[in-house]
Amino acid sequence: MPVINRLAEFHDEITAWRRDFHENPEILYETHRTAARVAELLGEFGIDDVTTGIGQTGVVGVIKGKNGGEGKTIALRADMDALPLTEITGKEWASKTDGAMHACGHDGHTAMLLGTAKYLAETRNFDGTVVLIFQPAEEGGAGAKAMMDDGLMDRWNIEEVYGLHNMPGMPVGEFAIRSGPLMAATDEFEITINGLGGHAAQPHQTVDPIVVGSQIVTGFQSIVSRNRKPLDSAVISVTVFEAGSAFNIIPETATLRGTVRTLSTETRELCEVRIKKMVESICEAHGATADINYMKNYPVCSNHAAPTAFAAKIAAEVAGGEDKVNTEIEPSMGGEDFAYYLEDRPGAFIFAGNGDTAKLHNPAYDFNDELIPYGCSYFIKLVETAMPASA
Ligand code: NI
Repeated sequence: MPVINRLAEFHDEITAWRRDFHENPEILYETHRTAARVAELLGEFGIDDVTTGIGQTGVVGVIKGKNGGEGKTIALRADMDALPLTEITGKEWASKTDGAMHACGHDGHTAMLLGTAKYLAETRNFDGTVVLIFQPAEEGGAGAKAMMDDGLMDRWNIEEVYGLHNMPGMPVGEFAIRSGPLMAATDEFEITINGLGGHAAQPHQTVDPIVVGSQIVTGFQSIVSRNRKPLDSAVISVTVFEAGSAFNIIPETATLRGTVRTLSTETRELCEVRIKKMVESICEAHGATADINYMKNYPVCSNHAAPTAFAAKIAAEVAGGEDKVNTEIEPSMGGEDFAYYLEDRPGAFIFAGNGDTAKLHNPAYDFNDELIPYGCSYFIKLVETAMPASA
């Protein structure tokens, strides 16, 4: 049996929660209203325990199975934060806040995990414990890490962790996953080149940071083409180059900023080492110096083999056929802070089709409510299959 029938009765209610979250988006760690509503609903469902304030505004819920919770503990995660964008969908439930909108569908992820919680609290057709993770700040704030720093994994004895993200362009009812690297590590750099300013007509009396910076930008291209293993992807993009103020002045400094995306720890380290070495060497060759701020952000989001195979099997049941689950989707060079959980515990992150909608992070995007029964069924079946009730 694919989608769980009982969810049809919940569909309108879950949709209403989703649209309420959508209308009231909150960015990064500011998910106060959303977290309060999540905690309130979890309380109404009569789950065993609700803790707020984990990782600032994160919420953790616990549901114990028929046997009182003995045995395995599996965590399911939803993200709650919105993006700093102004919505243009014109929908009835469009964001009421200028400069904030749910353009990544985290409103849908949160509502689907709530629907899952309601069903599991009512049926408890499993042995063991389910931990529900509602996290803030997925969009660049490392909310996952903040919750882990507050003891998430050990405090709730989490043994495995699963997450889901909607994917525009893939039909509703289909899934995609892969074992190993799924999403890239997302590091950033800011480099200030300190030269010597002066008159543009007397360049020999200056150290021109624009020329030095240009060579650095060019040099970076050879890290990806000549140092990286060809089959291990990497992207280095310089996205900001700031220098100068007038046509006749050679400036004192130039600033370069950019991002580094990699799919393995090895290549991630390589890029950092080569970038620093190249900046220092090029600056030295020209008599300039550099201040390098290299920021390591999200690690590689890498699915574990056995949980991935298990997740794909559950997805195929929900979708009604193995042909509806792509188990070899190409990795994405975008980032996802679910990576932190997967560095610490076995688990898997899966994509679920959002249908023919606008792309993620686009102001015309909206989560597709038709995905709700599939997302909830995936989580519920995953729990009931991984921890079957003995009686
Ligand atoms: Ni997202």
